Amino acid sequence: MTRTPVNVTVTGAAGQIGYALLFRIASGHLLGADVPVKLRLLEIPQGVKAAEGTAMELDDCAFPLLKGIDIFDDPNQGFEGANVALLVGARPRTKGMERGDLLAANGGIFKPQGKAINDHAADDIKVLVVGNPANTNALIAQAAAPDVPAERFTAMTRLDHNRALSQLAAKTGTSVEDIKRLTIWGNHSATQYPDIFHAEIAGKNAAEVVNDEAWLADTFIPTVAKRGAAIIEARGASSAASAANAAIDHVHTWVNGTAAGDWTSMGIPSDGSYGVPEGLISSFPVTCANGTYEIVQGLEINDFSRTRIDASVAELAEERDAVRELGLI
Ligand code: NAD
Ligand code: LMR
Repeated sequence: MTRTPVNVTVTGAAGQIGYALLFRIASGHLLGADVPVKLRLLEIPQGVKAAEGTAMELDDCAFPLLKGIDIFDDPNQGFEGANVALLVGARPRTKGMERGDLLAANGGIFKPQGKAINDHAADDIKVLVVGNPANTNALIAQAAAPDVPAERFTAMTRLDHNRALSQLAAKTGTSVEDIKRLTIWGNHSATQYPDIFHAEIAGKNAAEVVNDEAWLADTFIPTVAKRGAAIIEARGASSAASAANAAIDHVHTWVNGTAAGDWTSMGIPSDGSYGVPEGLISSFPVTCANGTYEIVQGLEINDFSRTRIDASVAELAEERDAVRELGLI
């Protein structure tokens, strides 16, 4: 049976994450090895020529699943018929820029993109926001798309999740595939909280295997939470291939489901679970099945975790209040 191609819109397509992402989407890693895709690349006018160059390279790969590439600098066209939208392009913080300026600059990108998604995307649209500040950019886009179910707007904390898996495997001398049920809570920022209290390593409770709260507080959590800054320091540019990989993982899991007995972390609109105010786009433990996700319920949250979750959620609330004041939501 011939399948209808899935339309995947990628913003910031000419950027460094875009370059690491597009070839993997086209080769079937995003949706599945039997799912044809059409790429819709959205850039600002100055980025269009570079996106054209990437499109030439995509052609040169002769990917059997890639059924078309179109390039736009108008969001209304870029999101036309989109089934999946990866919002990667964002305004980076530059020297002398205050936090409010950054939020305002990104509001100028994510508000019109949210409206364009609202007006032009397919009914089954799924949105992943990668561009920082990812959670609050997702909130801005969602607020501009009242006709799209709110839960279709998600923000990426899968990179943090993968970083935590890797650090925990290294500490315990195990392999990442032995580790299940790890959680990133809160914001994709230095306040995020990687939680191993419910995680299992080869079936044993991870916190008990580690049995070292000082390592957890002073090494594991800051290493994961500040990994983005460490990469920038080392590479002279922010993470790109690992961020693209996490975006692939996020959407693949959302569409194809979590493995039995495991969960993942996604930034999603809170329904009030775990004391996170309703509507904030915060990272939670989620299971996915049939193209939808559900927050894992009933986890006991100890004092160590509670303080840290609350701190990250407070930061999200501050960001929400700031964009509300700017009239962006
Ligand atoms: P980059 O600067 O290399 O590329 C960004 C691209 O976006 C550029 O080509 C630019 O022209 C384009 N762009 C800017 N405004 C646009 C708009 N309005 N519409 C369409 N395209 C637009 O940046 P990058 O390294 O690819 O990173 C992209 C974003 O991802 C940054 O905000 C970065 O901080 C963020 N990031 C997030 C995570 C995460 O885990 N959530 C991880 C790494 C990076
Ligand atoms: C990351 O976590 O690697 C990025 O969000 C860092 C950044 O500021 O772009």
